[in-house]
Amino acid sequence: MSRINSLAELEEFRKGILSKRDPNKPCITLCSGSACHASGSEEVAAIIEEELEKQGLSSSVDFRKTGCHGFCERGPIIVIHPEEICYLQIEPKDVPEIISQTIKEKKVIERLLYTDPGANEKIIHESEIPFYKYQERLVFGSNGNIDPKRIDDYLAIGGYSALAKVLFRMTSEEVLSEVKKSNLRGRGGGGFPAGSKWEGSRNALGEIKYVIVNADEGDPGAYMDRALLEGNPHSVLEGLTIGAYVIGSHEGYIYVRQEYPLAVENVNIAIKQAQEYGLLGKNILGSGFDFTVKVHQGAGAFVCGESTALMTALEGRAGEPRPKYVRSNVVGLWGRPSVLNNVETWANVPLIINNGADWFAQLGTENSKGTKIFSLVGKITNTGLVEVPMGMTLRDIIYKIGGGIPGGKRFKAVQTGGPSGGCIPEELLDLEVGFDELTKAGSMMGSGGMIVMDEDTCMVDVARYFLDFLTDESCGKCVPCREGMRQMLKILTNITHGKGKEDDIELLEELSETAGDASLCALGRTAPNPFLSTLRYFRDEYEAHIKEKRCPALSCKELIAYHIDPKKCQACMICLKKCPAEAIAGGKNRIHVIDQEKCTKCGTCFEVCPPRFGAVQKISGEPVPAPIPEEARTIIRESKQK
Ligand SMILES: Cc1cc2nc3c(=O)[nH]c(=O)nc-3n(C[C@H](O)[C@H](O)[C@H](O)COP(=O)(O)O)c2cc1C
Repeated sequence: MSRINSLAELEEFRKGILSKRDPNKPCITLCSGSACHASGSEEVAAIIEEELEKQGLSSSVDFRKTGCHGFCERGPIIVIHPEEICYLQIEPKDVPEIISQTIKEKKVIERLLYTDPGANEKIIHESEIPFYKYQERLVFGSNGNIDPKRIDDYLAIGGYSALAKVLFRMTSEEVLSEVKKSNLRGRGGGGFPAGSKWEGSRNALGEIKYVIVNADEGDPGAYMDRALLEGNPHSVLEGLTIGAYVIGSHEGYIYVRQEYPLAVENVNIAIKQAQEYGLLGKNILGSGFDFTVKVHQGAGAFVCGESTALMTALEGRAGEPRPKYVRSNVVGLWGRPSVLNNVETWANVPLIINNGADWFAQLGTENSKGTKIFSLVGKITNTGLVEVPMGMTLRDIIYKIGGGIPGGKRFKAVQTGGPSGGCIPEELLDLEVGFDELTKAGSMMGSGGMIVMDEDTCMVDVARYFLDFLTDESCGKCVPCREGMRQMLKILTNITHGKGKEDDIELLEELSETAGDASLCALGRTAPNPFLSTLRYFRDEYEAHIKEKRCPALSCKELIAYHIDPKKCQACMICLKKCPAEAIAGGKNRIHVIDQEKCTKCGTCFEVCPPRFGAVQKISGEPVPAPIPEEARTIIRESKQK
């Protein structure tokens, strides 16, 4: 690798890379992020390499292991360029046929294509699959095209041109004003305007300043930051370097949780390669600007994602937040002005510089510009990472992109904003996603978690679940959070166990108010949100649990029972054989009966009872019918009667 020493050399270098690339040369891309690895993409990659060799195609076909393509439900995914043929859920045994048929013979293999469930038609091209078609993949789009371990791939798509523009053609004031004009708001939680935060640090006194990437990503179910760092680490580094240039920082940190080994590996490779090319380190591109980046692996505590706790952890101390009467962009890491932004926020910066603030600001709603990456999970047909323009409705995200709710079930709510976000009900499905819109609805954008829930979800139990998580993750430094959460969890657990009391709701509201007003950091201040939002939209469920000892969603174990309807039971013995607690009595031609004492309420009998019989019933809030007497349990089959 040779060092690039000027703007002209960078452009020459880029031309050199592009001149060696034939856009018509077949190229196989395979998703190779952590989620893809879990579904077997490494085995597929090994067979692709072996098969290309075997079929004599190693030099005439490119093979690229890329980052996550987003459609994780259907991984591993292969896209063959330039035709853009997309194959899903590839197994090693499919590879020889893909090489011999699609690569050599240009024939599409129908069975590996996406089938549109509505029209029952096969879709060949990735961009035409509904999951991708309705997205606006500005930040995330390159993930599927580049090998994150090869800096040349990033340079080939115009990488580091924004940094070069900033260093050679713009003053730091101009860059700041462009970022402010774009109204880029932080993608990690609060939606604070990035430009204002940078300006605060820029104006703060001191020679030493820091820029930091927040890749802690502790929200359950969220993995967009991991996918970006794994799949396109240079975009984050480029954004970070631009931020450093604006505030006058020469040292940056990437705080990433140690549970993200591939992200750590790829970002370290990216830093090394950028340094070797002169895109990081001393005298970047010969501009005179110096900037180095270090990777810090966090131990995985959720609270360490909070800005002040993260900086304390970076300093080598226990990650606990501090009061924010002085903002960390003025007094931050080691007491120096420090700009902390989320992975996705930083990755937006090169796009804004390359395309201009006006281009960015034309996307989205009045106060939420650009796009947002969401991790769409839960009871949804197409699980994965989606990037949509701000302002898209929840309905479009869940139904057009997510493919709706599986199993013919009804949508109940969508939880956004991570564990301290809120649940949004069906009547608000036409809400446009944006920072302020979600907050007004009692939830928040957070870092982009989106958990879809169907009719079988108990909203009281959802509040209990998130509170359990937050109680566990509270650092314990302040009383309202440490003790308040514990008490709230106790009350919510009692309610889901059928031990709720008449005044529990009022008590929970009071505790929420105290935690919201008096907690030290946003963990405690927002922790009541799951309770408050579920109470706001699903109060009847709380009342049913407390007053009638009934779980309307038939989900809370302590409030439900399984019972076999003697009129419907066909004595088929399936439930009896499958019951892990051996709680079902019966036999051939003998109506089955569940022993309520032995039943562990695992639900196996309910799941295995053939739908045409529908004999096993789940009930709540009513007594279990008495078992029919022994002598009445024999079924006299019609054939035997004759
Ligand atoms: C308990 C807690 C956890 C947080 N975790 C994260 C996180 O994992 N990633 C993140 O970017 N921001 C997280 N935040 C928000 C950060 O405090 C901070 O606002 C953010 O990193 C700033 O970057 P942004 O302006 O680009 O969003 C968390 C906040 C709290 C209160």
